[in-house]
Amino acid sequence: MHNPSERLLQSWHCNAEAWIEAIRSGSIESRLQVTDRAILLAILGQQPQRVLDLGCGEGWLLRALADRGIDAVGVDGDPTLVASARAAGSPHVHLATYAQLSESKVDIGTGYDLACANFALLHQDIIPLLVAIEALLVADGMLLIQTLHPWSVSAGDYQDGWREESFAGFDGHWKPMPWYFRTLSSWLAALDMAGFDLNSAQEPQHPQQPTPQSLLLLARRRR
Ligand SMILES: C[S@@+](CC[C@H](N)C(=O)[O-])C[C@H]1O[C@@H](n2cnc3c(N)ncnc32)[C@H](O)[C@@H]1O
Repeated sequence: MHNPSERLLQSWHCNAEAWIEAIRSGSIESRLQVTDRAILLAILGQQPQRVLDLGCGEGWLLRALADRGIDAVGVDGDPTLVASARAAGSPHVHLATYAQLSESKVDIGTGYDLACANFALLHQDIIPLLVAIEALLVADGMLLIQTLHPWSVSAGDYQDGWREESFAGFDGHWKPMPWYFRTLSSWLAALDMAGFDLNSAQEPQHPQQPTPQSLLLLARRRR
């Protein structure tokens, strides 16, 4: 296959069932110990009524938000993951790729108080997508991104570029996934160019771990 962005989405078509199993069996330690709670608390801290979960996967965050009375809408580009999120009890989950969203080809609603992306912005050219999402937010709407912490995963190569996740530590059969490594300044520049002002940054960390498990960026739609 052609470019890494296409191979990236294609890898999710191949890995969807294994991903559902990994999430629902709780086999990803960093999620259980740190990052699930971190994004949930960061969202709840904003007291949103209506949230868009971008790249929602099998929908665990949609369910966690709905349990707390929040109107949670998901969107994802993989049909198996979307079907699984719907079957698990989330009625509002759209099937759309980031390319379709960037070109506003799919109606996924508007008036969101907050849009979040939990380890779901993995492609290179995120700015058109973020611009499109910005337009779906209320006037002072927020964007929350949780991603791999660039300093924890740089492996001595601290520059933007495509990398490959082999899923070596995961059970089952996985197709390797290309993903785009972004430095901290690159993340901040992307937010700025897409029309967001950084509100706060967190580095969620387990007390017994020497490095953070993720980077959480909270940004506000620029007026
Ligand atoms: C690491 S998973 C995270 C899923 C979910 N946010 C979670 O926390 O479990 C990345 C998600 O991004 C979605 N994704 C990746 N590239 C995409 C694209 N180009 N268009 C739509 N969804 C995409 C995948 O289908 C997958 O569900």
